[in-house]
Amino acid sequence: GAPVEVDVGNLAPGQLMTVEWRGKPVWIFNRSPEMLETLPKLESAVADPKSEVKQQPEYCKNATRSIKPNMLVAIGICTHLGCSPSSKFKKGAEDGMPADWQGGFLCPCHGSTFDFAGRVFKSKPAPTNLEIPPHTYLSDTRILIG
Ligand code: FES
Repeated sequence: GAPVEVDVGNLAPGQLMTVEWRGKPVWIFNRSPEMLETLPKLESAVADPKSEVKQQPEYCKNATRSIKPNMLVAIGICTHLGCSPSSKFKKGAEDGMPADWQGGFLCPCHGSTFDFAGRVFKSKPAPTNLEIPPHTYLSDTRILIG
């Protein structure tokens, strides 16, 4: 499949857009400072906090799993059996989520949960973090996926 070029200039903090690349949904997610602050607090709650399993290019093997700290680019497909996780950005126990839920993504099929970096929580069926596709910045606001 051909690479996909995306303009993220209008993506406000806290907003997520989805584009298609190789027939897959790719999330581009401009994480707010509040969202980013939750990541270091979840090190012991997620299964692979340091992204040791190769689910991302080397340049995204870092605390935010991204090139720019705010901007997550991730394939929006659950690593369990391929459902599409949905955004659960509100904190708290709403809809049966854990009481200390800080926001992230919930897979509706078997309940896997992921944080704002796509890291899977422990004891959930999904075996690995969400996949980060290869991507690069063509300019400050243009990303090339693929
Ligand atoms: Fe997502 Fe099973 S497919 S939890």
